[in-house]
Amino acid sequence: MSTLSRRDFLAASASAIGLVLTACGGSKTDGGAADTAADAVAAEYTLVNEGKLTCISNLYFPPFESMDEKTGEPVGFDIDMSKSLAEHLGLEVNWLPSQAFDSLVPTIKAGGTADIAIAGMTITDARKAEVDMSDPYVDSNQSLVTKVGSEDTLETLNAAEKKIAVQAGTTGADWAAENLPNATIVPLDDIISAMNGVLTGSYDGLVTDLPVSSYQIKNSFTDLQIIEEIPTGEQYGIAISKDNPGLTAAINAALQAMEDDGSRDAIETTWFGAAL
Ligand code: ARG
Repeated sequence: MSTLSRRDFLAASASAIGLVLTACGGSKTDGGAADTAADAVAAEYTLVNEGKLTCISNLYFPPFESMDEKTGEPVGFDIDMSKSLAEHLGLEVNWLPSQAFDSLVPTIKAGGTADIAIAGMTITDARKAEVDMSDPYVDSNQSLVTKVGSEDTLETLNAAEKKIAVQAGTTGADWAAENLPNATIVPLDDIISAMNGVLTGSYDGLVTDLPVSSYQIKNSFTDLQIIEEIPTGEQYGIAISKDNPGLTAAINAALQAMEDDGSRDAIETTWFGAAL
């Protein structure tokens, strides 16, 4: 019988000695010369629960993450991403209960609770100082939202008597603080409460990521409107502890493999109707 190729050997050893092997892509299109060690990335990493990719998020950010009303299970784009990432790493996925968005980075930094935070989280310098961020996997922008029928504009909302709801600790909150300096900014735990509050008149407007406001206005909050699309040029990444650089490498390799094998296109189509 033929001996194992180096790649098969690495794969076979992986489970035994705690190495994880992920395909680096390219093997489909390069005419078969792919079965070499250069085609694979072996990365050593730790997991809080053996054999599992333990994930945290703030589950009030559809379509990226929310809770299925019937089952109470997390659902969304990031949940599908986490499942596919885990599959590509040969792990099971393990979702912990929702937590406040601004506690995600501190939780990952502290270690011991979860391996990754996947939360439509914009890659920022401030976050990169605390945790590692994976390669970007979604492009995003901000939006300013009011109730249908409101005459308010970016200019009229910049006044002390105007209340603007944001999710605490987000890039939308930062944008509002900078660009609506005279308005009364109200930080909330989640953006769904903000949307309900604009509908009922508790707030005059809200600022959140454009993919979320567009999706929500199309699917449930039809009485809200986007009055400004704000080209902040954000990119989402996955937060991983700086103490676990092997996991960041493995996640990046898995993201690339998902790009190459069409898994990401399929997830984008599920949640946005087309590949992004
Ligand atoms: N992209 C924005 C940020 O990083 C908002 C993310 C909110 N995510 C969530 N799961 N609630 O600040």
